[in-house]
Amino acid sequence: MTGYDGTAATADGQVPLQVIKNLQKRVAQFHLSYKFAIDELTTKIGILQEEFEHTHDYSPIEHVRTRLKSMDSIIEKVQRTGTTPDVDAVRARIRDIAGVRITCAFVADAYWVADMLMAQADLEVLEIKDYIANPKANGYQSLHLIVTVPVFLSDRTELVPVEIQLRTIAMDFWASLEHKIYYKYDREVPASLVAELTEAADAARALDAKMATLRDQIRALG
Ligand code: GTP
Ligand code: MG
Repeated sequence: MTGYDGTAATADGQVPLQVIKNLQKRVAQFHLSYKFAIDELTTKIGILQEEFEHTHDYSPIEHVRTRLKSMDSIIEKVQRTGTTPDVDAVRARIRDIAGVRITCAFVADAYWVADMLMAQADLEVLEIKDYIANPKANGYQSLHLIVTVPVFLSDRTELVPVEIQLRTIAMDFWASLEHKIYYKYDREVPASLVAELTEAADAARALDAKMATLRDQIRALG
């Protein structure tokens, strides 16, 4: 039998403790790199926010939430998606281990913030999913970006993928309620409730449109 790092197992078929320890260390480093990527992005977003507050008296960013998938959830997704349980394969295939959610007051602000981030030279955009322009069938709206963030470690630089979700307050309100209902009904939401949620999504969209016209009117006043 061969250990995970290519070392032979001991005669009694057990994987040597040192091999397990090395593996554990690699997994911990892997997980930590995502925390660092979140830290990097949080700093970037914080700089934009502060700059806006100083120079424009207005920030397009209302609030920011971050999430690091637990090792248990990563393992569950590796199994569910049939991903090879190998650090490189997991990094390439599971791209929502690190998540950053940016909530804005207005739809235009969500696109604006996305553009500012995408223009940063050290961020590489791997994927854009625009569920604002093309909402999901249930009404879900958000702008999703997968970007890689360079994480500078002592002996190497890692390009770590992060999922960024940009949405308005109304979209966020809807998504958090829908998420709760979805889990409450164990992913089998009754049709009547689904219809009501879709209606609520339409109302959220209408509110966003109304807020945008109000803002334009206020701006026109100077
Ligand atoms: P996952 O494998 O679930 O991450 O989906 P995906 O790879 O197809 O990505 P997608 O961009 O569709 O969704 C990623 C994330 O967006 C989810 O983990 C949720 O946070 C959010 N999301 C997507 N669809 C919905 C939805 O219908 N309702 C809510 N509340 N959130 C959603
Ligand atoms: Mg996900």
